[in-house]
Amino acid sequence: MVDVILGLQWGDEGKGKIVDFFAKDYQVVARFQGGPNAGHTLYVNDKKLVLHQIPSGIFHPGIVNLIGNGVVLDPVTLKRECESVAAFGVDVKKNLFIADRTHIIVPTHRALDKTAELSKGNQKIGSTLKGIGPAYMDKTGRNGLRVGDLLDKNFTTQYIKLRLKHQRLLDSFGFQEDISAWEEEFFEAIEFLRQLNIVNGEYFINEKIKAGNKVLAEGAQGSMLDIDFGTFPFVTSSNTIAAGVCNGLGIAPREIGEVIGVTKAYCTRVGSGPFPTELEDAIGEELRKIGNEFGATTGRPRRCGWIDLVALRYACMINGVTQIVMTKADVLDSFATLSVCTAYEVEGKKTAEIPYQLERTKPTPFLEKFPGWSVNTSTCKTYASLPDAMKTYVNFINTYLGVNVKYISNGPGRNQLVTVTP
Ligand code: GDP
Ligand code: IMO
Ligand code: MG
Repeated sequence: MVDVILGLQWGDEGKGKIVDFFAKDYQVVARFQGGPNAGHTLYVNDKKLVLHQIPSGIFHPGIVNLIGNGVVLDPVTLKRECESVAAFGVDVKKNLFIADRTHIIVPTHRALDKTAELSKGNQKIGSTLKGIGPAYMDKTGRNGLRVGDLLDKNFTTQYIKLRLKHQRLLDSFGFQEDISAWEEEFFEAIEFLRQLNIVNGEYFINEKIKAGNKVLAEGAQGSMLDIDFGTFPFVTSSNTIAAGVCNGLGIAPREIGEVIGVTKAYCTRVGSGPFPTELEDAIGEELRKIGNEFGATTGRPRRCGWIDLVALRYACMINGVTQIVMTKADVLDSFATLSVCTAYEVEGKKTAEIPYQLERTKPTPFLEKFPGWSVNTSTCKTYASLPDAMKTYVNFINTYLGVNVKYISNGPGRNQLVTVTP
């Protein structure tokens, strides 16, 4: 059985913390898409750590962590991450496994990402510039290099062929930067990667499942950044939704069990693109400050706004969400009034559906107001001890979505998670 934890908004919902929390009930934790554009924050022994490509189960001894074929892997970032988790006593040679069909991000992918963004001017996506888009383009364009190719003696020749292809494109963009230093660290990291556990991911995971192991699939980004169902073109280049688990790991749909959707109690977005409930005022600033809303990968300030139930209900539908974890509820502690978006006005009409192109239609959100709770909830351990106003807020969301919030996260710490009880 494979349970899934994924983001329901535009990323950074707190997936890393939640995966780390639930991991103890699983034998395998697997990433199925995305790459170093992800930044999943964990607290281990009260120390903060951000994982980009290594699954968030890595700090649990005895748990197998798999980087699945649906990921695009940057060897340089991976080497750095392996070194940083080793400082916590984690032996990646023992509990990290990488699927041989995983595509590799090469230095020219990063260069292409940069030039493509520059060429878009004010239409830029706001990419993390980690080479994600170009790497997935090479996958679907049938050009890319895969981790399994590292074991082939012709790897360098294959790399040079790909680099030449990229160079022609870079020349057409007028890209002038010298990337020889990037290449040097890339080849160092390739040597390191060769020494890790490279496996046939689909046999590996199916054998684990057959043997009765429980798998937790860890999503990166969020549903509204999905290449098909997100706010295209302001999206990432992979399927971030539950369906991505099957082709990102090589498992059958019938293996999927719980789909645990993570949402903040409000909403954020980093990078460009539509965000109907965005608050470009003092309240937005306050959310950013209290929620410490700065990107875990790029450090960019995150755009902040009220929770958007139209987008959330859409995400629940697309993913088949069976339960919700609401994070950062404590961030709302000091707000006197909260708002919740229940519909959009699009071209003079009220709708509770996501329009074809949010950006073009520029919807005005219909907001319902709720009283805040004005107490510190970060030390609450039980649902009973949470303020009634928070319960009212959560119950409204449950009813609207038709899926229940089962856990409320009330701080970044490993144990700041309250189970919702009837
Ligand atoms: P991810 O990409 O979905 O894993 O999320 P990020 O790690 O990028 O961003 C979530 C941020 O919120 C991190 O800094 C977490 O430490 C923090 N965080 C997670 N849950 C909570 C919570 O319930 N309350 C507060 N105050 N912070 C949280
Ligand atoms: P986690 O897993 C938030 C955003 C970027 C940009 C768009 C495309 O930490 O939630 P890309 O680098 O993929 O080409 O960028 O997607 N983005 C994220 N936003 N959290 C993430 O990951 C993100 N990964 C990509 O800001 O708008
Ligand atoms: Mg993040």
